Amino acid sequence: MPPTSPRKILVTSALPYANGSLHLGHLLEQVQTDIWVRFQKSRGHDCLYVCADDAHGTAIMLTAEKLGISPEDQIAAIHTEHERDSAGFLIGFDNFYTTHSAENRFWCEHIYHHLQANGHIASRNITQAFDPEKQLFLADRFIKGTCPRCKTPDQYGDNCEACGATYSPADLIDAVSAISGATPVQKESTHFFFTLPALEDMLRNWLDSDTLQPQVANKLREWTDAGLQEWDISRDAPYFGFEIPGEPGKYFYVWLDAPIGYIASFQNYCERTGHPFEPYWREGGDTELYHFIGKDIINFHGLFWPAMLHSAGLRTPTAIFAHGFLTVNGNKMSKSRGTFIKAGTYLEHLDPEYLRYYFAAKLSGSVDDIDLNLEDFVQRVNSDVVGKIVNIASRCAGFLARGFDNRLATSCAEPELVEHFIGRGDAIAGLYEAREFNKAMREIVALADRANQYIDEKKPWVMAKQEDSQDEVLAVCSVGINLFRALMTYLKPVLPAMAAKAERFLACSLDWTVLQRPLLDHQLAPFEPLLTRVDKKQVEAMVEASREQTPPPAGASPRAEAPVDEDGTIQFEDFARVDLRVAEIVAAEHVEGADKLLRLTLSLGDRQCQVFAGIKSAYQPEDLVGRLTVMVANLAPRKMRFGISEGMVLAAGPGGKELYLLEPHAGAKPGMQVK
Ligand code: 2FM
Ligand code: ZN
Repeated sequence: MPPTSPRKILVTSALPYANGSLHLGHLLEQVQTDIWVRFQKSRGHDCLYVCADDAHGTAIMLTAEKLGISPEDQIAAIHTEHERDSAGFLIGFDNFYTTHSAENRFWCEHIYHHLQANGHIASRNITQAFDPEKQLFLADRFIKGTCPRCKTPDQYGDNCEACGATYSPADLIDAVSAISGATPVQKESTHFFFTLPALEDMLRNWLDSDTLQPQVANKLREWTDAGLQEWDISRDAPYFGFEIPGEPGKYFYVWLDAPIGYIASFQNYCERTGHPFEPYWREGGDTELYHFIGKDIINFHGLFWPAMLHSAGLRTPTAIFAHGFLTVNGNKMSKSRGTFIKAGTYLEHLDPEYLRYYFAAKLSGSVDDIDLNLEDFVQRVNSDVVGKIVNIASRCAGFLARGFDNRLATSCAEPELVEHFIGRGDAIAGLYEAREFNKAMREIVALADRANQYIDEKKPWVMAKQEDSQDEVLAVCSVGINLFRALMTYLKPVLPAMAAKAERFLACSLDWTVLQRPLLDHQLAPFEPLLTRVDKKQVEAMVEASREQTPPPAGASPRAEAPVDEDGTIQFEDFARVDLRVAEIVAAEHVEGADKLLRLTLSLGDRQCQVFAGIKSAYQPEDLVGRLTVMVANLAPRKMRFGISEGMVLAAGPGGKELYLLEPHAGAKPGMQVK
């Protein structure tokens, strides 16, 4: 129903780094935001969607340097690519700007001055790793070295990918700068801090104000409960960003200026178009402000950002909508599996509306992760959109074109059915508003089933052959088209291109505000195909094009599939192939001529096997007999100098005397599978 007074809504999605291409993870968020914005617009609200590239920081500076171009040229090139890719997915930004802009510099300085005037900026010296060759301070992720715990080389700054240990970069063995390879030195410099503890009361009230999703508020309360820390908002030169006023050589940290980029992009939009700006950032106005973000950046948006806005005398967001991560086929996106899919690669193979629909069918208002299962994707798009929605129009359009010159009946043969479809609009709108897109899609598809069932029952293809049933063919197909029109109105936020084609065919607007009465005695345009089926082969080609082959390590035996992904994970199936069993050591003896090995005879209950284990340094054979341990029972037998080894026992420890055979809890029996 048309609102009496349109809401004034400003919406953002997170600003992508100008340091790489967009991938389907970015698109999940942009599609979610875009659907919500298109829905608001369709309902007649004044809703604007702004975004920008997040253009500052060390990483971007280093990328540009590597490419031999200026950071300005680097971010300009990425800006063009990001705009093209988002447009390819029909993301309808009202403005897509950059944080490296005059407007953003102005707002950063403006907000900083307010924080300063309120006593919310502190400064003190801190000591940090410094690359003496590159002459720059090194964030943790730019330091590499050997893990202090498991001794795996080439681990980044603060955690080990091999053993999961977390540590401070100073604990790394043989630490080097990941940028130059030089050994970092410790160096002191002055940093500026935003004194978050001074805003604790404000933040506690904010977290209790029902502005955030409950899980998000709970997560953020862990921060306030643990005691807020001052937030370091400065970085030393060289840095690509804005210099802090009055502090030569000190720059605003990229995470300070990034959210301010929301204001700057909106200001740029208002200056271009003459749209009012000020009411959107003033406290206590009648405008609404929403940020769509991923759950990984809730601290910046749910704590630091509202605190900054509050201290600067600006309004805080109406709500922050966090979503979960995107997985593909149940796993983290992976280059070797071909599931790290860039936006551009997707668009070379598939229609953007397939993915928009699939994401809509999966997205809810929660922070749960979303899985793009590629088989389900093909099946669901083909079944729901092509098989059910498009089908309603295409099966009616032929009869109307052939027999009735594309003109609808002058009266409605099924007023109750059509009214039921129109009447569901408010409930569906409520689901969109709450970002329960998956429920909205279910409701729409259920209505499509109802429409198809109606046509199936009436069988216009049978009546079309009978001369005295022509009026009924017209009546049924006119009802079908009216049902289709309601459904396409509800789907327009998700499928804008298909809706545009449907609008041409129906010769009417599919805005929600005009869906009130059935179309009667209405002239249609010729039908044009709305959406074709997804072909599985296109999906396979996209995965192939996304696959990056990682060469096997030197000396490794060739395998059909890389067992370990570049992110260090293995597939569940790979793990499941390892048959771990409880084994009883029934005999143990020294092996003549072997320095490290003991020969173990192991019982798996129903069979015995021989294993040579490198545990001589830690155990006397006689101490082992009768003990239970855990073995890999399906390892291919290996011929060793002393005989055949038919498995492997599991032990922990660095080696030498410190080697401990794993032992199951009391109650385990030989042969039991370890799960
Ligand atoms: O996490 C990211 O990709 C950041 N570039 C998001 C910034 S959102 C906002 F604060 F600008
Ligand atoms: Zn480690």
